[in-house]
Amino acid sequence: MKAKQVEDRIRQLSTELEEHNHRYHVLADPGISDREYDRLLEELIELEKANPDLRLPDSPSLRVGGEPSSDFPTVEHMTPMLSLDNSYSREDVEAFDARVRGALPDEQIDYVVELKIDGVALSLVYEDSRLIRAVTRGNGVAGDEVTANARTIRSIPLRLRQDGISCEIRGEVYMRNADFDAMNQRQQEQGLPLFANPRNSTAGTLKLQDPKAVARRPLRYFAYWIHDPSASTHMQRMNTLGELGLPVNPATKCCGSLDEVFSFYDTYAAQRPSLGYEIDGVVIKVDNLAQQERLGFTAKSPRSAMAFKFDAEQAQARLLDIRLQVGRTGVIAPVAILEPVFVAGSTVQRATLHNADEIERKDVRIGDLVILEKGGDVIPKVVGVVLDERPADAAAFIFPKRCPACGAETIRPEGETAVRCGNPACIGQLKRRLEHFSGRNAMDIEGLGTAVVEQLVDSGKVKDVGDLYSLDAEVLSSLDRMGDKSATNLVTAIAASCQRRFDRVLFGLGILHVGSTVARTLTRHYPSVEDLMKATPEQLEELDEIGPTIAASVHEFFRTEAAATLLAKLQLAGVQLAGDADESTRGTTDSETSGALAGKTVVLTGSLQVLSRDQAKSLLEQMGAKVVGSVSSKTDLVVAGEKAGSKLKKAQDLEIEVWSEEMLQQKLADAGIGIPAAG
Ligand code: IVH
Repeated sequence: MKAKQVEDRIRQLSTELEEHNHRYHVLADPGISDREYDRLLEELIELEKANPDLRLPDSPSLRVGGEPSSDFPTVEHMTPMLSLDNSYSREDVEAFDARVRGALPDEQIDYVVELKIDGVALSLVYEDSRLIRAVTRGNGVAGDEVTANARTIRSIPLRLRQDGISCEIRGEVYMRNADFDAMNQRQQEQGLPLFANPRNSTAGTLKLQDPKAVARRPLRYFAYWIHDPSASTHMQRMNTLGELGLPVNPATKCCGSLDEVFSFYDTYAAQRPSLGYEIDGVVIKVDNLAQQERLGFTAKSPRSAMAFKFDAEQAQARLLDIRLQVGRTGVIAPVAILEPVFVAGSTVQRATLHNADEIERKDVRIGDLVILEKGGDVIPKVVGVVLDERPADAAAFIFPKRCPACGAETIRPEGETAVRCGNPACIGQLKRRLEHFSGRNAMDIEGLGTAVVEQLVDSGKVKDVGDLYSLDAEVLSSLDRMGDKSATNLVTAIAASCQRRFDRVLFGLGILHVGSTVARTLTRHYPSVEDLMKATPEQLEELDEIGPTIAASVHEFFRTEAAATLLAKLQLAGVQLAGDADESTRGTTDSETSGALAGKTVVLTGSLQVLSRDQAKSLLEQMGAKVVGSVSSKTDLVVAGEKAGSKLKKAQDLEIEVWSEEMLQQKLADAGIGIPAAG
């Protein structure tokens, strides 16, 4: 072929492929078979390989993913990406409507209602009709540029269907439930960690550094906004989006009254479980753009729009068993083992039953049909029982008097709901302590997963975390499903953990009430373990954020013989038992200096439903926050769970930003920080 012919063919193939792509992924009306499509794509890739100069900047070959990147540049949005105010009841929506009408007296108000897609917001910038940039929401002002990844999303056009257009488009990246399930199935088959729900895996996928890996993940897009100066209504914007080749959610409706809005809400609340992708409510927007402009914005959201959220999604499933899990501090947590059921975006087989009291209060029995609830959250909970469906022989559950892991008698301290195993040598606790020690925020030992930990403890090879350091490849390779290579890698990973900072080691020891912030405070003031061991509870209490409970716990820990034995082993292994956290973090690009909450002081209050307090704290710290105990004028943010009391009130009085647990989860997802999955 002559150069001109090659050029023409490349052009023709590119246009044709994008056309088929649009038909398949946007219109759901394929024009050719998958095989034919792949054949054309292959031809294009071959031609481009032989003639790299002729490759078009928006070539469909970009869909299979370009070269890996080491970093995502931060890019400022042309206008801030705001969020929506949430409402949870009709009264809230009526109040919103009254505010709108109050601000626009005697005017006709139409609302457009749309589905609120539970995914990740993404801004697309087109220049001369070509996709040149894709940026995540980030903190609203600036986000991560993930263009190469966005180009692999087949429903995002690389070229708009009209020429000469430069504009910004915003919408939501999401994953269909079936795709998500299949993907998790593959993860499971490969022994990889599972994703908690479609939203988390969407957020995580968008932040992968290898676009080829992104191309293999089933991401999709719905557009809901375009900067289009010629439009005078939101509905026109939506039409324009469709004409330009973007996927627009078909459930988009213009309503002349609130009744119509409510009926749209009811319709989709009912359809939600069968829709095929996750939605967490509907969005109500004033249709007329001039009216939108006159309504203006608050600091965070437009006054012309509002999200009307659905209640947490519920499902029913048979309770097959109640398993008791011993945590690293000895708390025995009852876990419901269920017949698999799909709820709120993922298949659920386990749910929390909280504690013995809750089982008794709800009278949950093995064999019952139980009601599960899963909000925007990750770990579902059992909220009740369908009594009519109870099998005749279902017996009340009796919480055992002995630890399921070691057989020691359980204890239940006065005033606590938790039942605990009081045996310091309990192997169940040891297993969880090992997992905690090797966890990401502690020693970060890759390859030391549950299966390995189980075997190491059950075979008696490891009696405390210090024993990890005397394992060799030979011993490890004798474990089930552990090849020579994995064994060597694990030995290397364990050895490498000797370099972790002292505060991470201290956190990893799993001392009751010592999270990573407390560990950092302690090491800052007591830069070696010897100093710390000598500290009296009174001295410890003098430190910021350290109260009598923590002080007593730390003091007691170091008095035990087990601690002395353990520390001797760690010392011998060369684990860092000294060093100031501040000094060693200087000059790093830790989350503390670069996260979404870098340098912010955050207070956690109220009871969290999904995350444990430790988890929430450690996740906030991963975003760079400093988590402290009391609200003051220096507090930047309060994360408030249920039944938050005086701290929330104080935050409101001081006009400090407040997040719900759900907002925290959303922000974590936005920041690409994974929330540990249930079970
Ligand atoms: S409009 C000012 N429409 O919900 C924000 N948002 O806080 C305008 N979302 O971050 C957003 N579906 O990512 C809009 N149909 C929809 C949406 C939608 C999902 C997300 C969006 C935003 C969050 C609201």
